[in-house]
Amino acid sequence: MSSGGLDGGNPGFARGRRLRSTPALRRLTAQTRLAAADFVLPVFVKQGIDEPVAIGSMPGVVQHTLDSLRKAAHEAAEAGIGGLMLFGIPGEKDPVGSQADAADGIVNVALQQLRADLGDEPVLMADLCLCEYTDHGHCGVVTPAGVVDNDPTLDRYAAVAIAQAQAGAHVIAPSGMMDGQVAAIRKALDGAAYSETPILAYAAKYASGFYGPFREAAEGAPQFGDRSTYQMDPPNADEALREVAQDLAEGADAVMVKPALPYLDIITRVADAVHVPVSAYQVSGEYAMVEAAAANGWIDRERAILETLTAIRRAGAGTVLTYWAVEAARLLSRA
Ligand code: PBG
Repeated sequence: MSSGGLDGGNPGFARGRRLRSTPALRRLTAQTRLAAADFVLPVFVKQGIDEPVAIGSMPGVVQHTLDSLRKAAHEAAEAGIGGLMLFGIPGEKDPVGSQADAADGIVNVALQQLRADLGDEPVLMADLCLCEYTDHGHCGVVTPAGVVDNDPTLDRYAAVAIAQAQAGAHVIAPSGMMDGQVAAIRKALDGAAYSETPILAYAAKYASGFYGPFREAAEGAPQFGDRSTYQMDPPNADEALREVAQDLAEGADAVMVKPALPYLDIITRVADAVHVPVSAYQVSGEYAMVEAAAANGWIDRERAILETLTAIRRAGAGTVLTYWAVEAARLLSRA
């Protein structure tokens, strides 16, 4: 392979610095670009609060009221953000997560309002899981012995998918890592006249320590055990490709890798392997890590934000879910 720019044998090495010498040259030759349209902003909406509630471990992120969410959604739209990913925190939790598919459940009300307010832009994505809605905090229903029970959970996911589509979600995004979840949701949506509603599968979702702050935000920490029996084991890479292939075979329209920064290799392998849109989720712990270091004056915050987002796009993700979506869009329009 030619490295380009050789000096005709004299002095015999490539001058890579030529194309780095001015900001304009660097911009012209940049291989990866960030755009607001590629960002999805995850948002939390909580039932029964009058004011937004700050999340201590995620400075700048809040649990929204319905009203503050509407405002935030308009801001995101103005900033040109591609989508919103909605998470609901219900007033009441129970063993089966009833509020997830209740028509008057908080996330479904929020979806209705945002869809009425904003129409088709940005794209409204509904995270489909039960952990925010169950009193035990697991992503599915559990047996008396405390095991997350795969197949009965699929029936719950099917009901939630229909409720979310009915409420106005443009995209259903199952994140519970149950086997067969995409097939169950596809069948349910098709049977309820939502055959045009796409599924973005959280296909390769790892059991990660980087979800810590999210559990404060979504109030969905497991009350016993952890998620290692359903989410993927961090040492595994080939398994991610199997999960992705399986979700596509079951009818997923797009796939996600999560978390992002500690799994850039997985993003690359998935992006190389498939011909559907690939998203990556820059999770709460990735956000908190940069915010905490920046708050201590240890790193340049804005530079680090844009660098992490660039790395995730460079690895092969077309879409990045990031809590910095709106801020990053503003940084880009300023640059
Ligand atoms: C719930 C869900 C989680 C996240 C997104 N959806 C948490 C978990 O699996 O425990 C994590 C997002 C983040 O950390 O920002 N299924």
